[in-house]
Amino acid sequence: MRILGIESSCDETSAAVVEGSGHLVTLKSNVVASSLAMHAKTGGVIPENAAREQLTYILPVIHEALNKAEIGIEQIDAIGVTYGPGLIGSLLVGVETAKTLAYVLEKPLIPVNHMVGHIYANFIDKNLPPSTVFPAIALVVSGGHTDLLLMERHGDFQLLGGTRDDAAGEAFDKIGRLLGLAYPAGPVIEKLASFGNPKRFRFPRPLIGSDDFEFSFSGLKTAVLREVQKQSVLDEQTVKDIARATQDAIIDVLTRKTLRAVKQYNVQSLLLSGGVAANETLKKQFETLTSETSLNIFVPTKNLCTDNAAMIAAAAFYNYKSVSPFEITANPELYFEANS
Ligand code: KG4
Ligand code: ZN
Repeated sequence: MRILGIESSCDETSAAVVEGSGHLVTLKSNVVASSLAMHAKTGGVIPENAAREQLTYILPVIHEALNKAEIGIEQIDAIGVTYGPGLIGSLLVGVETAKTLAYVLEKPLIPVNHMVGHIYANFIDKNLPPSTVFPAIALVVSGGHTDLLLMERHGDFQLLGGTRDDAAGEAFDKIGRLLGLAYPAGPVIEKLASFGNPKRFRFPRPLIGSDDFEFSFSGLKTAVLREVQKQSVLDEQTVKDIARATQDAIIDVLTRKTLRAVKQYNVQSLLLSGGVAANETLKKQFETLTSETSLNIFVPTKNLCTDNAAMIAAAAFYNYKSVSPFEITANPELYFEANS
């Protein structure tokens, strides 16, 4: 079955074609147009600008994804589209385009939760029978979310906890701003951290010892702000040292709480996903801490960690529930629904 995926929830406009069969989803094409460079100039995403960019890119990316997959649009069996969460103006562009295509071509339309999409980036180009993956803990760490979930099977998402304030990616981005770094700051902080002294600063690890699965990162941002204000000049090495201490604190909290969930629910795998999962140090830390266990750790390839339509098409394949084009509405506040 060939699925066309469409993703337009924030500042990336993406279309992809996947071929799903049995337990395998094969990537045929994945085209991502980003308005990131524009948002870097304003230090963050301005929703109105992001929506206008979505309109510019949506048809060209669909056209290119079909061309790269070497198929005509009539050869698509179904369309999967992100319907939330995200920015309403951006979401509407993808949803309305997908609805129109589904109506005109008379193809099934599958609404996909963007967060669920992130998790399914782990299943692309891997042949994974459910018995080799579930039960699993999924950690979704992106610019907008830090969520820990228990999955006992495909389509089953039990939310164990999430962030009370800033998401992990948001913490990287806001701290980056304090340090005068470009947006999005996550990858920049990762690079600078590798040259930082791990002993010079130590920032708080909020909620690390609490016996729930909640996260909180806004206190970390405040601690960094205080440290930055204390410095008479923010020289290059100080920025590297702060980057290192920031990354260490975030990784410490994410790994400690996630592995506690792994233990408590006695799962056989861990599915990492979202933009922050592109962080190599985070992945290595998880691997080091579990080297003596039999836990399977899955991390999508880097380009599938950040927003893309391939993950949306994959999620549509594994959670195939089509709706009439008249029934789907963009929902910026969408969250995890049990058995969604
Ligand atoms: O999943 P994503 O592309 O968009 C959302 O759905 O939010 O995630 C973007 C986030 C940004 O906050 C960015 O700073 C962060 O992922 N990010 C990273 C890295 N690459 C992207 N954070 C830490 N280390 C990285 N290497
Ligand atoms: Zn995302």
